[in-house]
Amino acid sequence: MPIEIESPEQMGYDKIICNLAESSVSDAVFSDLKIDLASLVLCYGDHLGKPELRQFIAAENDLKSANGVLLTAGAASALFIVSTSLLEPADHLIVMRPNYATNIETPRAIGCAISYLDLIFEEGFHPDISKLQALIRPETKLISITCPNNPTGVMITRNELQQMIKIAEEHNIFLLVDETYRDLYRDMQLPPAASLSDKVIGVSSVSKAFGLPGLRLGWIVTQNKALQELFLAAKEQIFVCNSVVDEEIAFHYLVKKSTFIPGIRTQLDKKFSMLEQWIKDHKYMEWVKPDGGVVCFPRIRPEIELDLTRFYRILNESYGTYPGPGHWFEMDKRYMRIGFGWPKEEEFRKGLESIDAALKEVLSGT
Ligand SMILES: Cc1ncc(COP(=O)(O)O)c(C=O)c1O
Repeated sequence: MPIEIESPEQMGYDKIICNLAESSVSDAVFSDLKIDLASLVLCYGDHLGKPELRQFIAAENDLKSANGVLLTAGAASALFIVSTSLLEPADHLIVMRPNYATNIETPRAIGCAISYLDLIFEEGFHPDISKLQALIRPETKLISITCPNNPTGVMITRNELQQMIKIAEEHNIFLLVDETYRDLYRDMQLPPAASLSDKVIGVSSVSKAFGLPGLRLGWIVTQNKALQELFLAAKEQIFVCNSVVDEEIAFHYLVKKSTFIPGIRTQLDKKFSMLEQWIKDHKYMEWVKPDGGVVCFPRIRPEIELDLTRFYRILNESYGTYPGPGHWFEMDKRYMRIGFGWPKEEEFRKGLESIDAALKEVLSGT
């Protein structure tokens, strides 16, 4: 997927006036964390990851032992480790789509056969469990889902999660749950998936909910002992251990996270209300309301005819506004991912107004 050349990091942040393309909360500033690293020894770290941090994450995942936690360089490398160590070209997997690119691209690069569990706007972007059941083959090794989903922000229900686990257990398939947005729930939070079965592999990181993507600190959680060993061996081959600096900062942040979360939530709630107000009765746009995360995936109503290439050109070039276009997620460009976590309130408001203005221009033919 051509996401990287169009990502804000690659485009240059200075070119962007309204950045609606980010998928995390606003980035934290190191000095606000009040962490003193002066005596940190810059050695190779524990290959599994800093033991105290793993213990903390194990407790958050309702696991008794830290053995089930492997620290990784962000959730992205966790997903890479899972795919590259678990999957062979002859394997089949079922992947929720749309999804974060790595969940699709790495198994594709390995050459696996992939079936897609497509999320449909008209079905509220909820997976159809009977379709999932029908996609299973004797060689299916993995079912891969993301909850809250990126780009839709929709969460599966507890019942859907339980049904998926049941299917995985019955067919001896692993269930990968990318929970990178798990802490960003609104009304309900699902139990940590890996606590529910040893067929489940949970993946998450500090990037999205805490605005710490520059730390590159994530983890894989599983109760399955064979997988624990497999994933550690893969990590050792790829990057030996994490950055001890990243581990140290993440640990100090997480033990104090309750002091940061209220401020993050207040900012998020304000922008979410703005977004709800904007989409309510919108003449040209409609959405499935997200249950969690910091992104949503609205679309320009299907009955509206317009030149989408021109719309994005006007939006980008005349208004400096960048949402994530649908093609990042192998979807029609009518869809766009709008990130409401990262921009400041004023930038966000202006970004939404720019979408309106660009739509107006393209529809009036000016
Ligand atoms: C669903 C999902 N998983 C994983 C990642 C990777 O995040 P990181 O490597 O920063 O932890 C992302 C980033 O956008 C994501 O959206």
